[in-house]
This record gives sequence, structure tokens and C-alpha cells, in this order.
Amino acid sequence: MPKRHIALLGGLFLAIGAMVTLVSYSVTLYRLFCAATGAGGTTQRVAADTAATTDQTITVTFDTNTAPNLPWRFVPLQHRITVHLGEETPVFFEAENLSDTDIVGRATFNVTPDKAGLYFKKIECFCFTEERLAAHSKVQMPVVFFVDPEMAGNAGTRDVHDITLSYTFFRATHADDIEDLSRFQATAEVGGKLFASQCAACHALDKAKVGPPLADVVNRTAGSVPGYPYSHALAAAGITWTPENLDRWLAGPSAMVPGVAMPMAIAAPAARAAIIAYLKQQSAVGGS
Ligand code: HEC
Repeated sequence: MPKRHIALLGGLFLAIGAMVTLVSYSVTLYRLFCAATGAGGTTQRVAADTAATTDQTITVTFDTNTAPNLPWRFVPLQHRITVHLGEETPVFFEAENLSDTDIVGRATFNVTPDKAGLYFKKIECFCFTEERLAAHSKVQMPVVFFVDPEMAGNAGTRDVHDITLSYTFFRATHADDIEDLSRFQATAEVGGKLFASQCAACHALDKAKVGPPLADVVNRTAGSVPGYPYSHALAAAGITWTPENLDRWLAGPSAMVPGVAMPMAIAAPAARAAIIAYLKQQSAVGGS
């Protein structure tokens, strides 16, 4: 091999070696590196969903892992969902510290296929932060994401119809920027996003759409908004919408009151709790 080739190769190895060292050296640099390049299925962090929702759908599967030395149980609260491209969607993960001590963990994630990572945009997440979970406590963590419609326009990614988001929690060794996972208990804000993506097609706060208005629904009598054409079943149900009843309703309207006309349910308890927190907040704003 000519000498100058050897020199070139040596230079290349040096450069790669330096990158690897830098990346493993500092979490902050790792963040910068991934945010800048979207390398290896790394997803993108954005402030808001500015993309228009399209008719095209994609299936997202959720996968979770914990490092062997991290005594946490960490699971997705929904295994798989189908969403429209551009549609802002909240999903939830649950983590529980099974040990007797507070522990700081750090989540990393990636998307497969790798080439889809660039289009998987997260608005709110526990992606790169170091997280403290108190001994024996349990939290439900939201991730709000959308898949950029540009994915369907790009020849290289047009064929992608299924993506998998995998999260792995590691035990943090040198922790900086620690945040406490208990902050995810305050969920009205996430509930508002869930309301927008799961309920707003049929419900507004202050006017009837397909369904009745919901601004002051907490502690209201079921089937009681004047002029709204309720099903006979709901009009006659005699229920008060306490938070407990709302939770049962959202888990399965027809299971709770057979014959009602609301055709959807929210399977994840954390998602229901967030929506109810949001509705409570709206009821308080409305002053009733
Ligand atoms: C596809 C349309 C649709 C979606 C989506 C939907 N609803 Fe409904 N909802 C309805 C309809 C229709 C009714 C009236 C049911 C009846 O009369 O039997 C209703 C009734 C209700 C009621 C009872 C209100 C009252 O005045 O008694 C509540 C509470 C409610 N919905 C909450 C929600 C929430 C929260 C979501 C989102 C998680 C949601 N709904 C999503 C269609 C929908």
C-alpha cells in the first residue's frame, strides 16, 4: 500500500477513535451528537408538531428494556398503535423502582428501521434526561410524538409502514441534570394533548359536536346537556360524572352503560387519568 494511503487511513482511524471517545465520554456530547445527526435510529426532538396530518397511517410498536444492574420494572402501557402521519400522539410508559433505595436511571432510545429515525419526532419525553425514581415508587411517563409526513415523500423511506421505538433504561453512573420522575404525576398538560388527539374529533369543550360539550363535565349528571340528542341509554343512566365514573366510562363506555353511542375507549389507565385531570382543570376554569 502506498505510504500516503496508510497515512490517510491512520488519520481516519484517529478521527473515528476521537469521535467514539468523545461520545462515550460525555452524556452532553452524546446528546449533541445524536441531536445533530439522527445517527443510528436516533429520533429527533422538536418543540411542536407543525406538520399537517395526512391520510396515510403507520404502525408504531413499543419496546422496553432495562440494564441488568437496574432493579426497575419498565413497560410500555400500549404495545402497538396505528397513527396518521403528522398526527400528534401521546403514549405512556410505566417505571417502578423495585429496590429499597432511590436510583437514578438514564434512558436511551432508538427507532428501527434506522432510516425512519429522522422522521420520528418527539415533542415531550424523558429521552435524554437522567431520572431519579424513589425507592418502591411507580410513575407513568408520557412521550408525545408524531411521524413526519415527509417520510412518505422520500423515496428511501416510502416503503416503511412499521416502526419500533425501543427504550432502554441504564443505571446512571455519573449523573448530571437529574430530574425526579415524580414530576410526571402532574398530568393535566399531557391530558390536554390526549384530549386533542383522542377526543377532539367528536368533542369540544364549549359546544356540541358529534358528542356533547365537556367543559364542565366533572360532577355533571350524565345525559344532561339541554338540546344534545343523547342515546336513550345515557339519558336514562342516572350517573354523576365523578372522576371514578369518568374513568370507568373511558375504559369502556358500552361496558359501563350498555347501548350508549360513544364508540371508543382508552385502554391505558395513565392516559385516562391524564384526560380526567385535564377535564377537572377545565371544569375549574369554567367555575362550576
Ligand atoms: C367517535 C366520537 C367520539 C369520540 C372520539 C369520543 N366521544 Fe365521548 N361521546 C361521544 C358520543 C356520541 C357521546 C354521547 C353518547 C350517548 O349519548 O350515548 C359521548 C359522550 C361522552 C361523555 C358523556 C357526557 C354527558 O354529557 O353525559 C363523556 C364524559 C365523554 N363522551 C368523554 C369523552 C372523552 C374524554 C373522549 C376522549 C378520550 C371521548 N369522549 C371521545 C362520541 C365520542
